[in-house]
Amino acid sequence: MNAWTPVIVAFLCNWCSYAGADLAGTGRQQYPPNIRIIRVPCSGRVNPMFIIKALVDGADGVMVSGCHPGDCHYLAGNLYARRRFAVLKKLLVTAGVEPDRVHFTWVSASEGTRFAEVVRGVTEAVTALGPNKMTGGGAGEL
Ligand code: FES
Repeated sequence: MNAWTPVIVAFLCNWCSYAGADLAGTGRQQYPPNIRIIRVPCSGRVNPMFIIKALVDGADGVMVSGCHPGDCHYLAGNLYARRRFAVLKKLLVTAGVEPDRVHFTWVSASEGTRFAEVVRGVTEAVTALGPNKMTGGGAGEL
């Protein structure tokens, strides 16, 4: 039986969320294996086109995770990212993309447990939506 499971591209800030993912791993936290992590220097580095390209190229969902407000190593990169993300999300909804396909969150380097919870939540939300119809196939293309 071929049960469908989503592919979720996760853009993680190197300084916080990527380290949080690492901590989840070393702490043996269980979370769904559906995410494909892309490490970025700051969540502010995530160009909205990266998110659109991931969806067009076959991702069923995308998550962006950065440092908590006030903790960005580049001062306000995460705040710019959050603003861009809010605008992009409205645009995606206008274009017919379900809002729960894209998620923005904060996870610090010490929050391995939170990272696992976030991934579980995002995976559940994207799974409930089914395959991404923008590509007609979803997971197979990534
Ligand atoms: S350095 Fe982590 S969000 Fe900017």
